[in-house]
Amino acid sequence: MNEELDAMSEILDVGCGTGQTAAFLAAQSGANVTGVDINPIMVEKATHRMKEAKLPVRIFQGSIEALPLEDEKFDLIMCESVLTFVNQPKALKEIFRLLKKGGRFISNEFTANVSLPPWIADEINRFYGINSVLTEAKWQRLFEGAGFTNIRVSGQNQSMLQYNPNPDFLYSKHIEPELYTVMNEHFNLLLKYNELLGYRIFACGK
Ligand SMILES: C[S@@+](CC[C@H](N)C(=O)[O-])C[C@H]1O[C@@H](n2cnc3c(N)ncnc32)[C@H](O)[C@@H]1O
Repeated sequence: MNEELDAMSEILDVGCGTGQTAAFLAAQSGANVTGVDINPIMVEKATHRMKEAKLPVRIFQGSIEALPLEDEKFDLIMCESVLTFVNQPKALKEIFRLLKKGGRFISNEFTANVSLPPWIADEINRFYGINSVLTEAKWQRLFEGAGFTNIRVSGQNQSMLQYNPNPDFLYSKHIEPELYTVMNEHFNLLLKYNELLGYRIFACGK
């Protein structure tokens, strides 16, 4: 598996958001980095970030579930906090198709530390608009089902609060008050279920 990145490497960040990770990878490795996100506002923000930082990162709008990119193009595919919100088998099939043989797929995902009692699962699913928070074993089965091999898992015993202490936006009078309410509810849920909720980093080979 190739973990060395250089100017010839191709990296894809799916669900790149505002482009923080894509910019970091481009600046650190000098590799060819592409970022894709379904949300046009994220695409605009990520594009702006690359322009400001004078980084040659290609950003475009598209869905992880069907991307107009050729087979086996990428040495490294990153996916941070995205799979929870999409059709996972479809997205993973697409990521597997785009990854080179010997390449690596790294996914950082919201994970239930244990199977959640239904009433807690309902509360969390409703708030985030998702179908479920998967356990580590369920994520692993999904990755294996999509064909990935040599799956390494890390991040156990780390709290979500520790993972995301600084959200990537600036507090401003232009932000609607409702957004602060939602952010508060998000942190309150993480606090309330700190023992049950976490994240895992899955590093998968092909
Ligand atoms: C929680 S954010 C994470 C953003 C970024 N990866 C990060 O870690 O900062 C989830 C991102 O996934 C994007 N997203 C959701 N569904 C998607 C899809 N089907 N295809 C591509 N991006 C998607 C959202 O627009 C959002 O930017």
